[in-house]
Amino acid sequence: MRALGVGLIGTGYMGKCHALAWNAVAPVFGDVARPRLAMLCEVDDALAARRARELGFAGSTADWRALVTHPEVDIVSITAPNAVHAEMAIAALEAGKHVWCEKPMATSLADAEAMLTAARAAGKVAALGYNYIQNPAIRLAARLIGEGAIGPVNHVRIEMDEDFMADAQAPFSWKSAAQSGHGALDDFGVHAFSLLKVLVGEVAQVMADMAQPYPTRPLQEGGARPVETYDIATLLLRFASGASGLVALNRCAWGRKGRIFVQVFGAKGTISFDQEKMNEIELYTTEGRSDLQGFRRILTAPVHEPYDRFIPAPGHGLGFNELKIIECRELMRTIAGEPAHLIDFETGLRIERTVDAAARSFREGGWRAV
Ligand SMILES: NC(=O)c1ccc[n+]([C@@H]2O[C@H](COP(=O)([O-])OP(=O)(O)OC[C@H]3O[C@@H](n4cnc5c(N)ncnc54)[C@H](O)[C@@H]3O)[C@@H](O)[C@H]2O)c1
Repeated sequence: MRALGVGLIGTGYMGKCHALAWNAVAPVFGDVARPRLAMLCEVDDALAARRARELGFAGSTADWRALVTHPEVDIVSITAPNAVHAEMAIAALEAGKHVWCEKPMATSLADAEAMLTAARAAGKVAALGYNYIQNPAIRLAARLIGEGAIGPVNHVRIEMDEDFMADAQAPFSWKSAAQSGHGALDDFGVHAFSLLKVLVGEVAQVMADMAQPYPTRPLQEGGARPVETYDIATLLLRFASGASGLVALNRCAWGRKGRIFVQVFGAKGTISFDQEKMNEIELYTTEGRSDLQGFRRILTAPVHEPYDRFIPAPGHGLGFNELKIIECRELMRTIAGEPAHLIDFETGLRIERTVDAAARSFREGGWRAV
């Protein structure tokens, strides 16, 4: 069987992350054929050619439509801005390619639905970039919850904070334009919803508020432009299981660099995790002597699959880019028809429905069904 031919669109923050994953997946896991890095696309020919040399791709183009229809390309990594995900993913699927699209799936529910329709019609693998669920620490937390280590879950709280938009003088970028979506709720918060999906289950109802800490941002060329998105969002949740939840999202949170603080409360204990300390979880259970009860810190180690594929030593830690390598392996598993741990367009659409229900709640008030 010929090796999978990879096409990559966009080579910024996430484009480099995908390129590193495609380069590393075979040496790290040792059980898959090394993908062929066939072609890469950027906004102009010179940039595309330079990035192809740096990232190890055989060819380059400034025309993403040429990439998605190229015969050497079997799978398209979409790491361009949110507003173009739908158009690119649908074109790639219609050309008979598998798709690995960054989150958020799309910037409107209608676009996300069209993407799922295209994936079903093509019969190709269509997956989303929800890397945080791949963390061995999160997998451990999910397994413990599934095994009943903290009893039935009754409440969950996620605080997701970063400060990449915290500077009021940071220039207006695509993240502040309405075409990128709602703001913190989807550009950022969808990661929280992916974690809720694997840790707690389906969200049934949501009530939301959103806020704009800075109503305008300066333009590179001078002057200012009104901000069209919301950098802060707060959501109350009701799960199908009967559990309740709270998600607080802020991309203007000075000092917070990559915080995703998760607390899952059950009838017999609590599990907590913070992405800023991504190689550990804390577990509290009511078992044993009451005078010795307290949170136990568990560092990830080779016993926490697939940590062992990277490092044989416990407690040495994985990093953000390594989550993408794990996600890439899960994607290759899916393509090979093996069971895999991945958020596909089907589950991704459910996340988009949660986003849409939250946005409706903000506009109209009150609880909204997902
Ligand atoms: N999974 C994660 O943890 C994570 C983290 C950050 C960003 N993202 C997502 O990744 C995507 C990209 O975000 P980013 O932070 O890498 O942005 P970025 O601005 O760093 O990179 C985007 C790149 O796409 C290129 N591009 C734009 N339009 C293009 C086109 N028509 N054809 C070819 N190239 C084009 C740009 O030149 C740029 O290099 C977004 O959807 C974002 O939400 C995901």
